Amino acid sequence: MRTYFAIFGATGNLTFKKLLPAFAALRTQGLLPEDTKIVLVARSSHTIESYLEMAKTQMKDQRDLDKIVDLLEYFQLDFASNAGYASLGELLNQTPNSKKVFYLAVGPELFARIAEGISSAGLVKKGNDSGRIAFEKPFGDDLESAQAINAMLWQFFDESQIYRVDHYLGKEMIQNILVMRFANRLFENNWNHLSIEKVSIIAKETEGVMNRGNYYDKAGALKDMIQSHLMQMGALVAMEAPLTYDEAGIREQKVEVLNYLTVQPKHVLFGQYHGYLQEKNIPSDSQTETFVAMKAFFNTPRWYGVPFYFLTGKKLNEKVSEIRIDFKHNANAQALWPNQPILKNQLIIRVAPEEGVTVRMNVKEPGLSDHINSMKLDYCHDCNYVGNKPEAYERLLLDLMRGVSTLFTRWDEIETAWQVVDAIKKQAPVLMVYESVQDLSLKIKKLLKEDLL
Ligand code: BG6
Repeated sequence: MRTYFAIFGATGNLTFKKLLPAFAALRTQGLLPEDTKIVLVARSSHTIESYLEMAKTQMKDQRDLDKIVDLLEYFQLDFASNAGYASLGELLNQTPNSKKVFYLAVGPELFARIAEGISSAGLVKKGNDSGRIAFEKPFGDDLESAQAINAMLWQFFDESQIYRVDHYLGKEMIQNILVMRFANRLFENNWNHLSIEKVSIIAKETEGVMNRGNYYDKAGALKDMIQSHLMQMGALVAMEAPLTYDEAGIREQKVEVLNYLTVQPKHVLFGQYHGYLQEKNIPSDSQTETFVAMKAFFNTPRWYGVPFYFLTGKKLNEKVSEIRIDFKHNANAQALWPNQPILKNQLIIRVAPEEGVTVRMNVKEPGLSDHINSMKLDYCHDCNYVGNKPEAYERLLLDLMRGVSTLFTRWDEIETAWQVVDAIKKQAPVLMVYESVQDLSLKIKKLLKEDLL
């Protein structure tokens, strides 16, 4: 059966940097459904040749293009024009009974219009799984706009046909969180306030806003990263065990725990890196945060009193995404060895750039002494790949074509996340412009000491 995969926003960064390379990798592994056609939809006028020329200058590895070039077709569309969707319809309806996947790599302001256009051209039928639609984040700009977009979508699509992309969910180590928690009794039994002191969810970046100033200045770090990626990581760490390991089971528990996430105004720090105001397309008086650190609590019996720290920002000292679980001090062990350093256990799930798990443990020092040392057990996940390490988008595109939605966010998850983020925004945390990362660390240490973070 033919599968049409139509990418809206085909001249954008995401298509060149992530989607086309992911298609190339899937094809190399023989994972693309036979008879797939990738239709590149965008506003600008191109022939397939001029599109390929442009793609070559934008893609990291031009060889990726060679692997899929025979699948590509370009289609110019004025997103506002009904006639445009009708001719797209003629193209995609050439093969009867084909599967159609629409991938919207465009801003949320276009979501509803495109969904309506696709539907009016008869390309999808509500409730019929042969037509699916996927959206890049951000899904809306706040709770109200997200609700409006969603209401519009539900006129044309059933929830089961809608795939809201959060690319962090396609990352290997994010998929590993539930396996680590529920396939290991060692962790499963200790995953609660009795054993855990605090949890830190971290996504630090070294790059600034680069050429995304127009989008980023309206969003800021809270909406760009916390509302989506970090809250999803937090939900996977905090949720209860799913009844079944599938889309319904997992998403049900994620949304349930997100309902219990609370943040007090005094526990939010907004920062802006020095030099942000001089970046391209940033207003010289912008108050947008490029950094957020906040202390939150999941008010459930499992997490009673355990702080969850969320931290993200641009232009920081390193590019690292990870989850740190700090266990409580073991007073029994300290009583047994009163003169020895008994350090707290720590589990680090390393999401990127390296993938793996580190566990900090106490062991006897080798040799004739009775000294106790802290050491690391290290698992390197990336070391175990045969061939290339899969990118998040490979997994997501594959699941999208197969119709598996576990790694996509359901509407009620998005809605709950927006509720939390809107409440934080309303409190308008004070913005701190920091000169350097050292300056920022000092400020954070001080706030932690004063229990303000
Ligand atoms: C995107 C954000 O969703 O995630 C970007 O819009 C951010 O601002 C990016 O840079 C980070 O993703 P990753 O996979 O590089 O950690």
